[in-house]
Amino acid sequence: MPKTNNNIAVIGAGTMGRGIAQVFAQSGFEAYMFDAYPEALTSASAQINKMLDRAVEKGRVTAEDATATKGRLHYVENLSDIGTQPLVVEAATEKLDIKIAILQEAQQHLTTDGILASNTSSISITQLAATVDHPERFIGMHFFNPVPLMKLVEVVRGLQTSDETAQRTIEIAQAVGKTAVSCNDHPGFVSNRILMPMINEAIFTLQDGVAEPKAIDDIMTLGMNHPMGPLALADLIGLDVCLHIMEVIFRDLGEDRYRPCPTLRKYVAAGRLGRKSKRGFYSYE
Ligand SMILES: NC(=O)c1ccc[n+]([C@@H]2O[C@H](COP(=O)([O-])OP(=O)(O)OC[C@H]3O[C@@H](n4cnc5c(N)ncnc54)[C@H](O)[C@@H]3O)[C@@H](O)[C@H]2O)c1
Repeated sequence: MPKTNNNIAVIGAGTMGRGIAQVFAQSGFEAYMFDAYPEALTSASAQINKMLDRAVEKGRVTAEDATATKGRLHYVENLSDIGTQPLVVEAATEKLDIKIAILQEAQQHLTTDGILASNTSSISITQLAATVDHPERFIGMHFFNPVPLMKLVEVVRGLQTSDETAQRTIEIAQAVGKTAVSCNDHPGFVSNRILMPMINEAIFTLQDGVAEPKAIDDIMTLGMNHPMGPLALADLIGLDVCLHIMEVIFRDLGEDRYRPCPTLRKYVAAGRLGRKSKRGFYSYE
């Protein structure tokens, strides 16, 4: 049975969940990972092992540490097998009904003072907190992709989140080598409230025929010192994800300036979702 100290359970073993579990395991936590689809667990395990093996080859991690990290990762096919945990992070598909159902079950696997967190990019933490028994111990732990490389955890406080939960969450993020920055729950939090309208504006700029995609991105990388242009970044994130977040911000803030660009809608309707579909503003064939 899982121990109850220095443990974490991650629900959802996709892009984000597997990265979160890996980072915790590398920092000495026993990390239990559950996904509703066993193939996601198989793929997570293969990807994490490959990354660790490559890190050993490059001399960034010792073989002993890589083996120990692998030993601390537990891939479970039934949610009930995650045991009782002081921290459960939900990192499943960005759909409200899926998350609410997961949280109902996950809260039964918390220690009496355990923290339940969501990695959601756009769903209200306050709204999710209202569906669980202890909203004061519910919080947003917004990791960034790729999780092992990105330093930031945006710690999002819902209206009901207690000071103690917020403080403990910051300490946990620091314990796994991340920099935690706090904000209050509001549509898009800080990160996507600023990033997504910038990407949306870049798409309006393209739509208005001001410049070609490469020129728009070159102006932003070379002139603004951004590591990547907004259109290339949109392709990396996924245009469907960008549209979904803009729709949430537009709906919840209700101002015209957040209106999703029609060209963004058109690309998503055409299945040009960016890198994952091999075509977005750029081609990845
Ligand atoms: N991808 C990003 O750049 C990014 C960045 C920050 C936050 N997020 C957020 O992280 C969360 C996960 O995103 P992702 O990109 O990893 O998605 P993903 O599609 O790669 O992974 C989601 C996983 O959830 C699993 N899942 C679906 N229903 C489930 C259920 N009922 N129980 C358990 N697992 C279930 C799926 O099988 C899949 O493996 C979302 O809330 C998203 O908004 C994503």
